[in-house]
Amino acid sequence: AAVEKGNYRHFMQKEIFEQPTVVAQTLQSYIHQADNRVALPQIDFDLSAISRITLVACGTSFYAGMVAKYWFETFARVPVDIDVASEFRYREPPLEDGGLALFISQSGETADTLAALRHCKANGQTIAVVVNVPTSSMAREADLLLPTHAGPEIGVASTKAFTCQLAVLAALAAHLAVKKGRIDRAEEQEIVRHLLEAPACLNAALDHDDDIAGMAHLIAPARDVLYLGRGPDYPLALEGALKLKEISYIHAEGYASGEMKHGPIALIDEAVPVIVLAPSGPLFEKTVSNMQEVRARGGKIVLISDEEGLAEAGEGCLATIQMPRVHPLIAPLVYAVPVQLLAYHVACAKGTDVDQPRNLAKSVTVE
Ligand code: AGP
Repeated sequence: AAVEKGNYRHFMQKEIFEQPTVVAQTLQSYIHQADNRVALPQIDFDLSAISRITLVACGTSFYAGMVAKYWFETFARVPVDIDVASEFRYREPPLEDGGLALFISQSGETADTLAALRHCKANGQTIAVVVNVPTSSMAREADLLLPTHAGPEIGVASTKAFTCQLAVLAALAAHLAVKKGRIDRAEEQEIVRHLLEAPACLNAALDHDDDIAGMAHLIAPARDVLYLGRGPDYPLALEGALKLKEISYIHAEGYASGEMKHGPIALIDEAVPVIVLAPSGPLFEKTVSNMQEVRARGGKIVLISDEEGLAEAGEGCLATIQMPRVHPLIAPLVYAVPVQLLAYHVACAKGTDVDQPRNLAKSVTVE
């Protein structure tokens, strides 16, 4: 049956609002209800033996992979070699015999990613695939198929597929950490408990839709926008910039907060809004000093943080967006919502074709 927009103006908007439901659905299929442990599909491969993961994807799926790299490395202590598919394939990366290669894709048909997958397969890698379309080429060619249950994603800008990818990847990282003997059963259950908090936190983030719509006029006139984030929220800065570029046609860049002073700070003036993604926590102070660097140059900041972060650093900002206080593990899922909504409302303010932005295809099937 054809997918309908229902009461929403655009598919993208509908898909943003579906996230609490589809993330919950996705998590359910990876979590053993009885004991709150991660359950993966059976695989004829010893996960405890892997010493490295090769991770490949494009666009938003690549940013989900960048977040997951933090998780694989911190929880499981397994190093991750990550690249965009179009580069990976041609740099002839050395691949260990019997290594694990992980591909992430909404469509399962992206030509660059599929070519990288086949290259890895031909070079003796076990192929794991996080994919949203279960009948896709990548799904068929996988040794370990890890489906996201986001349902059909129609908007060209990926939203719900991204948060569902993160849910699967976090579960996989926890499972791998157990297999590698890095965490015990209780710690795994603790991680799962935090993951299960994600749907409610996504709902709390969505409650700020009106506030975000109300500030779209502040960003819509900009020619350039900078997004900053640290740690696992750095890929979110990249994702925020990609979303804005794709659908509002405003030039945007994502940077690691601490890297700004190494170049992009030269761009800052009152005409370049700086969107800062910064949940409170141990690294917050560092981000606050980066914000001061922006302010000292007349830069206008939109701070996305929780109550504590906004109380400390919200004053003097152009605007603030309050997120619920969340465990750091699920912050990248929850902070995806305000960056998606901001891009969405700015695009609406500019009157662009949100679901079918110019020059873009939903699935890029040419290399
Ligand atoms: C995201 O908003 C984009 N339209 C695009 O970057 C997309 O994520 C990329 O083309 C990868 O697609 P896939 O997940 O279907 O492989």
